[in-house]
Amino acid sequence: MEIKGPFSYSGNKYKIMKAHLANTIKLANKIHEPFLGSGVCMYNSNSGGIGIDADTNVVALHNSLKSEGLTDRVQQCLYEYFPEGRNEEAYLKLRKDFNEDWKKNGTNDNNAHMLHLLIQLGFNSLLRFSKNGYNVPFGRKEADIERIRLHQKIVEKLELNFIHGSYSDLLLDNVDKENDIIYLDPPYLASKFTYGGWNEPDEKALLEWIDSLNKDGYKFILSNTLSHRGVKNQRLIDWCEKYNTKPIDKKYNAWAAAVGSVSYENNTSEVIVSNFEF
Ligand SMILES: C[S@@+](CC[C@H](N)C(=O)[O-])C[C@H]1O[C@@H](n2cnc3c(N)ncnc32)[C@H](O)[C@@H]1O
Repeated sequence: MEIKGPFSYSGNKYKIMKAHLANTIKLANKIHEPFLGSGVCMYNSNSGGIGIDADTNVVALHNSLKSEGLTDRVQQCLYEYFPEGRNEEAYLKLRKDFNEDWKKNGTNDNNAHMLHLLIQLGFNSLLRFSKNGYNVPFGRKEADIERIRLHQKIVEKLELNFIHGSYSDLLLDNVDKENDIIYLDPPYLASKFTYGGWNEPDEKALLEWIDSLNKDGYKFILSNTLSHRGVKNQRLIDWCEKYNTKPIDKKYNAWAAAVGSVSYENNTSEVIVSNFEF
C-alpha cells in the first residue's frame, strides 16, 4: 500500500505517485526530492533519500519525525487542548500558543507536535503562514495520530535526510546514478499559486540544472504542467521535446492541448517528464 506522507500538503503528488510512479519507485533504491513538500515519493522509497525544501516549516515538520516521543506529544497535546473533543475555541487557543513560540523560535522539535495537530484539524489541512504565524482557520477533520506514528516508523527504517535550502544544494556525490531517481516537483510557472514567487528566471535555471543532471548521467523524473487554465509554459513545452513526456490527464490529450492552438480554459495539462523509460 502506498504511503501518503506525514502531513497533508496542497500540491502533493500522492495521486500521481500512486497512478504513475509507484512501480518505478519500487524498482529504485533511493528517491531524492529537491522540492520536498510532504515528500510522498521519498516515504514510499525502498531505502530513503535526500529531501530539500525552501520552507523551514516543511523541513522542521519532517525532521520532527526523528524526535523520539513525537507521537506521544501530539497525543498529549490533543488531550490537553481538546478534553471534550475537537472545537474551534480550543483550536484557536492551540494556534495562538503555537504562534507565540513560532515568532521567537520558528518551527522546531519543541513545538512541531502542535503544528502537526494544527494541520490535521485546520481548514482543508492547509500548511499556510503569514508573518504572524500559522493562519489557517478551524477545519472539519478529526486528528489522525496513526498517520504520524506510521511515518515515525518509516523514518526509523529508511535513511531519510531533510535539508533546508535550494534544490541545487542537492549533493550529487550522494546520488547513485544507476539505482536512485531524482524526483522533481517544482512550483508551477503556469499556476496562479506560487510558492515564494517562482518566476521565469527560476524556471530557466531549473531546466538548465536538470539538463546538467541528464548530461552527467543521473536519472530524473519531473512533474509539471505545460499549461494551466489556458496559460502555456512555452519554455517547458519546447524543453520537454528532448525527453520522454507522458501526459497524465486522462480526460483529454494534455500534450496536444498544450502544444496546439486549442485553448482548454478550465484544464491543467499535467505531465511527467523523464530521461529514462518507465
Ligand atoms: C509542488 S510542492 C512539492 C510537493 C511534493 N511533491 C508533495 O508531494 O507534497 C513544491 C515545493 O517546493 C518548495 N520550493 C520552492 N522553491 C524551492 C527551491 N528553490 N528549492 C527547493 N524547494 C523549493 C516549496 O516550498 C514546496 O514545498
